[in-house]
Amino acid sequence: MIGRLNHIAIAVPDLAAASAKYRHLLGAQVGQPIALPEHGVTVVFIDTGNTEVELLEPLGEASPIAGFLAKTPGGGMHHICFEVPDITAAAATLVAGGARVLGDGKPKTGAHGLPVLFLHPKDFDSTLIELEQH
Ligand code: CO
Repeated sequence: MIGRLNHIAIAVPDLAAASAKYRHLLGAQVGQPIALPEHGVTVVFIDTGNTEVELLEPLGEASPIAGFLAKTPGGGMHHICFEVPDITAAAATLVAGGARVLGDGKPKTGAHGLPVLFLHPKDFDSTLIELEQH
């Protein structure tokens, strides 16, 4: 069902500092910050050729990554994102198999402007999985 690994997301306490390290130390193609108020994050995408790294910094009071950074103040891997051809069919298959879709279970528009869903980390070995329709 899942396709290509679209991105690996890393929550960071300082987006500018993290971006600078990827740009200058790792010599990566680092994009500009994109504020996503409806998701409570500011993101930077880094093209690594075969996938992307998504750096996430909290935005606003009720950021969904605030709790994560409270537990891991130095930052850390937050989620991985796989592409799926039909997100509604994927969600139905997952729920039928006993996995839980976070939130109201309906796709939202993600950072790439495409439908996304998140799966409960307890169902996937403590790894938050994002599905993005492509
Ligand atoms: Co993501």
